[in-house]
Amino acid sequence: MSFEKHKNDPRLSVELIDRPEDIIQAFDCVCEAFGRQAQDGIFLAMNPGWETPHGKELRAANMVARWRTTTKDKDGNLNTSFLKATIPGSEQESERIIVGFAIWVQASSVQGYGDLPVEDLRKGMDLEALYPGNEREQRYLCQVMASLHRRRIEVIKEKATAVPPMVMALDMCAVDPSYQRKGVARELVQWGLDEARRRGDLEAVTEASSMGRHVYEKMGFQAEGPNIEYFVDEEFKSRRRPPNIFMRTHGNLV
Ligand SMILES: CC(C)(COP(=O)(O)OP(=O)(O)OC[C@H]1O[C@@H](n2cnc3c(N)ncnc32)[C@H](O)[C@@H]1OP(=O)(O)O)[C@@H](O)C(=O)NCCC(=O)NCCS
Repeated sequence: MSFEKHKNDPRLSVELIDRPEDIIQAFDCVCEAFGRQAQDGIFLAMNPGWETPHGKELRAANMVARWRTTTKDKDGNLNTSFLKATIPGSEQESERIIVGFAIWVQASSVQGYGDLPVEDLRKGMDLEALYPGNEREQRYLCQVMASLHRRRIEVIKEKATAVPPMVMALDMCAVDPSYQRKGVARELVQWGLDEARRRGDLEAVTEASSMGRHVYEKMGFQAEGPNIEYFVDEEFKSRRRPPNIFMRTHGNLV
């Protein structure tokens, strides 16, 4: 079935993922968008072997493991929400294809109000499993991820005294390149903004890629500062890293 460029296409649906098979299918969108299309240096470093069937299976399994360990806040809200955007398949109306994927994280530095910032990145990202015995690659990823999330973590800490003391962070957003520019990301982002409002008018934050920022700025996010600076050792300086920018809504939700 063709999926026309049409705002609020009723056939497009955004829902929480509730089965591991959907995470595996959604991971294909991530590989196509971040791997093949954008060749995003952080995705490539975080997902060694993604372009082989076995490598992809292993990396998708990591994502399933993250999905399975999702916790809830003191009010019973999911701290990490995995979303799928689907359209009807070509054969049967009941069969749907996943064309987009997003992860929204309710984050807080106060216990019970969201996912706490990860203190030990090596452990938190299970880098030993990703790069067994490879101290160099593990160190590189720690430095890249700490740089990428530096401002997000500062904001989470600043919100410790806010009421309520938390933010909604868009942790990932990917749309299959064959279905881009049809409003899919917009719906995935809107889900999180609606949820942010419902959970207590929370501010939304994200680290936006050069493609993503066009979507987010139309939806009330504003860029803060220049492109994120990556603080990495001299030996890693020449590696390609994506130009991300920190964005936040300041309460300007649309
Ligand atoms: C960024 C991304 C998620 C956008 O998905 P999408 O479904 O194509 O976005 P939408 O169709 O919802 O876009 C909504 C609006 O944002 C703007 N926009 C989206 N992508 C754009 C682009 N590449 N360049 C310029 N503007 C863009 C447009 O104004 C668009 O509306 P329009 O098509 O009517 O002009 C997708 O391009 C992607 O997966 N890219 C690779 C991975 C990535 O960078 N992800 C974001 C990480 S922060």
